[in-house]
Amino acid sequence: MSFKKIPTLRIGDLEANIPIIQGGMGVGISLSSLTSAVANEGGIGVIATAGIGQFEPDWYTNYNEANKRALRREIRKARANTTGIIGVNIMVALSDFDDLIQCAVDEGVNVLFLGAGLPIGLPKTLPLDRLGELATKFVPIVSSARAAKIIFRGWEKRYNHLPDGVVVEGPLAGGHLGFKKEQINDPDYALEKILPDVVSVIEPYQEKFSKSIPVIAAGGIYTGADIHKFMQLGAQGVQMGTRFVGTYECDASMEYKEAYLKCKKEDIVIIDSPVGLPGRAIQNKFLKDVSSGVKMLFKCPWKCLRTCDFKNVPYCIGRALTNAKKGDLENGFAFAGANAYRVDKIVSVKELIGTLVEEYEKESLYIRA
Ligand SMILES: Cc1cc2nc3c(=O)[nH]c(=O)nc-3n(C[C@H](O)[C@H](O)[C@H](O)COP(=O)(O)O)c2cc1C
Repeated sequence: MSFKKIPTLRIGDLEANIPIIQGGMGVGISLSSLTSAVANEGGIGVIATAGIGQFEPDWYTNYNEANKRALRREIRKARANTTGIIGVNIMVALSDFDDLIQCAVDEGVNVLFLGAGLPIGLPKTLPLDRLGELATKFVPIVSSARAAKIIFRGWEKRYNHLPDGVVVEGPLAGGHLGFKKEQINDPDYALEKILPDVVSVIEPYQEKFSKSIPVIAAGGIYTGADIHKFMQLGAQGVQMGTRFVGTYECDASMEYKEAYLKCKKEDIVIIDSPVGLPGRAIQNKFLKDVSSGVKMLFKCPWKCLRTCDFKNVPYCIGRALTNAKKGDLENGFAFAGANAYRVDKIVSVKELIGTLVEEYEKESLYIRA
């Protein structure tokens, strides 16, 4: 009897010793501290760009520059603390999507994760006929085989180049979800179902371009046994968000992490986000007030999300999430995955990854026996 060592994750010429990507978590939840800690343990750490400039003094007057400056600084801080693999998460729905991509590429980040929309049109400032020559890898995040098909077909046609990997995010994830509300609990849309469908879409492209394109599973993955299960279903790696909130290195305030420690299963709810997507969050008074019709007055200096109907929404989600990140959960709320209620203590990233690897290897032994 022998343990099966957890495999590495290859994305192009990058190789992570541990096939775990820490999902980008916006509005300051995953910045350089968490990112570098994960990269130092052999995983892929990811800085999220949504609302990254909110802590800059000129956020309200110079949004675009504030975001780029904050992103540049976080990338450099992360890089100063690790030689491991670091990524940046950029939501397609962000108004400054193009500028943030260009900034991250200029800074030489290893991987870009592009979610919350279909990344078909890349910035014209990139060398679009020579994407393969860039050191930075591109990994879209999808929630269906259909979305994967549209992206891969689009990239083949436009760029004669394919994404370097794809994250498949199922309906148990935290934050905004790429599903209709009624699909969230429908077994036909479970990660176990959509992951193999995406693998089937990617296979012919891998053959046609003689390129290996890892498929990464996300959403509700909590233990090493879960990682093992999704790797058996065709994933080459996993992306996890919720578990990384429960670490010392996570960039959120202690109050934010405590919301995870205190919540119960029934507190984790699906909300209608003002940006027009469902989202998963921890229920609190702020969210209850919103659902009972209370409107939180705010001024929008910059429409940060293309899909936000800012004149009619009851509150600014960027502001509410930033308040929570800073510890003010009376004027905001925490996004969280379906398993957040299982987080019962704060641990170091080293301990978390060590436990996940151990559980994975035990599970592989159990399955083989
Ligand atoms: C607090 C929080 C914030 C998130 N913010 C983003 C984001 O800005 N962009 C994004 O693509 N995904 C975001 N996500 C999704 C994660 O990157 C990840 O894919 C997801 O949480 C995986 O599911 P899990 O939390 O069950 O592990 C967020 C998730 C959480 C919990």
